Amino acid sequence: MKIFKEPKKLQKWCAAQKLAGKKIALVPTMGYLHEGHLSLIEKAKKKGADEIVVSVFVNPVQFGPGEDYEKYPRDEKADLAKCRAAGATAIFFPTPANMYLDCHSVYVCEEDLSKGLCGARRPGHFRGVCTVVAKLFNLTHPDFAVFGQKDYQQVQVIKRMVRDLNFDLDIVMAPIVREPSGLARSSRNTYLSAEEKEKALAISKNLLSLKASFSSGSRTTRRPSLATVAANIEKAGLRLDYLSCVDAKTLEPRKTVAKGCCVLVAAYDGKTRLIDNVLI
Ligand code: PAF
Repeated sequence: MKIFKEPKKLQKWCAAQKLAGKKIALVPTMGYLHEGHLSLIEKAKKKGADEIVVSVFVNPVQFGPGEDYEKYPRDEKADLAKCRAAGATAIFFPTPANMYLDCHSVYVCEEDLSKGLCGARRPGHFRGVCTVVAKLFNLTHPDFAVFGQKDYQQVQVIKRMVRDLNFDLDIVMAPIVREPSGLARSSRNTYLSAEEKEKALAISKNLLSLKASFSSGSRTTRRPSLATVAANIEKAGLRLDYLSCVDAKTLEPRKTVAKGCCVLVAAYDGKTRLIDNVLI
């Protein structure tokens, strides 16, 4: 497995792979890799990538003031070992200083899909995401890039960026990977105490039972309302940041949950902000 720290060196190597006819997959991450990330590498393998480039970069530009940039968990050594074991062929560990040179002044802003949900609650977040992802695309020129459904809005925003800025690649979305308890895997789960982890289950439990109520054979009369889902999450001791039902394609709010919707939750469990969603 190749290890790169310098953007220029990664770019040169990727260009050479392309020239040799190799199919390149990019898996962008912020590190502290867990099974969710490993499933993205697995997806890249299944889709026939010859080279799988995993980027590990806690991108300062996508964190707002008072968010967890400094304390975001990092473990380069473990990430290296996990990438190698999972079959990645290159790993990219840039530093903030070599991703954002002095007086960096160009940013990418998506102005439609990023308005609501996490975009409304975390101003500037998607500007940071789009900027770093655009840079990673330019460094690697992948045939496709794999993102996790857990960040559903992020996937939609990046797809729009790819469409509107004519990036020549496909965006692949991989399903959410959950712990056996149902909790969506996240690097931020490491912040949770045992008690908080228990409380957090209210999110997945309620979202998954809402989704299950739409599967064939289930009785519509037992379908929980969004208000019930919200009340259950708050009753468990979490503080809802938002609970929203949107059209899965346009992210426009929908009053009633129906097929073709995505129901998304962001909630604080103590100081930790957790997100999760289900596609109906
Ligand atoms: O989803 C993430 O981990 C990040 O937002 C991403 C896509 C790696 C950009 O920093």
